[in-house]
Amino acid sequence: MSFPVITIDGPTASGKGTVAHKVADLLGFHYLDSGALYRLTALAVLRREIALSDEHAIAKQAEHLVCSFKGSEVFLAHENVSLAIRAEEVGVMASKIAALPTVRQALFALQLSFRRTPGLVADGRDMGTVIFPHANLKVFLTASVEARSQRRYKQLIEKGIPANIDDLRKDLAARDERDTQRSIAPLKPAADAHLLDTSDMSVEDAVQQVMRWWAACR
Ligand code: DC
Repeated sequence: MSFPVITIDGPTASGKGTVAHKVADLLGFHYLDSGALYRLTALAVLRREIALSDEHAIAKQAEHLVCSFKGSEVFLAHENVSLAIRAEEVGVMASKIAALPTVRQALFALQLSFRRTPGLVADGRDMGTVIFPHANLKVFLTASVEARSQRRYKQLIEKGIPANIDDLRKDLAARDERDTQRSIAPLKPAADAHLLDTSDMSVEDAVQQVMRWWAACR
């Protein structure tokens, strides 16, 4: 059985999570936040103090990830880690372990399992290029580093997580570099993706644009 898939890829803090969530709600589709899977793995790695050089042990954490999603809440085993996985330290570690081929391989089947009736909106870096290459609609969201660091700063402060805008800007640029330059599944638009620069666009306008593309490809 094949159910429709919409992929929304893009760099850190491009707004893809918010847009993907809203599109999924509007269509009554399931939602996959693939970045959360890398963040969950990173959190487990940090807590167990596993060295970045120990690829085998890190891949094992990904392979045996016991996680669940309820609305916007994320659970590692039975613990609600929705806030913990958003910490910058976890995001940075997620970006590092995401460059390890065995980790990506370990999370492959788990990501595919989110494709369920009546459909899926999947957000990440390689949703349209690697995980769902035959998706019905592919969108690649971008935004300037400045716009993204301001957004990330606002998000963190709203959640009560301390943040420094200059550090965020540096972290974002470094993470972009790592995500786009890695040899396996680098961040790049699929050849058939619709590009959307959201630097000066509201979330609502971005959602409406994706909905128009979706209507056009039905
Ligand atoms: O979207 P995010 O910031 O929550 O993702 C955290 C990290 O996980 C990101 O820096 C790169 C990695 N990631 C990835 O390599 N592939 C994905 N499909 C999603 C995230």
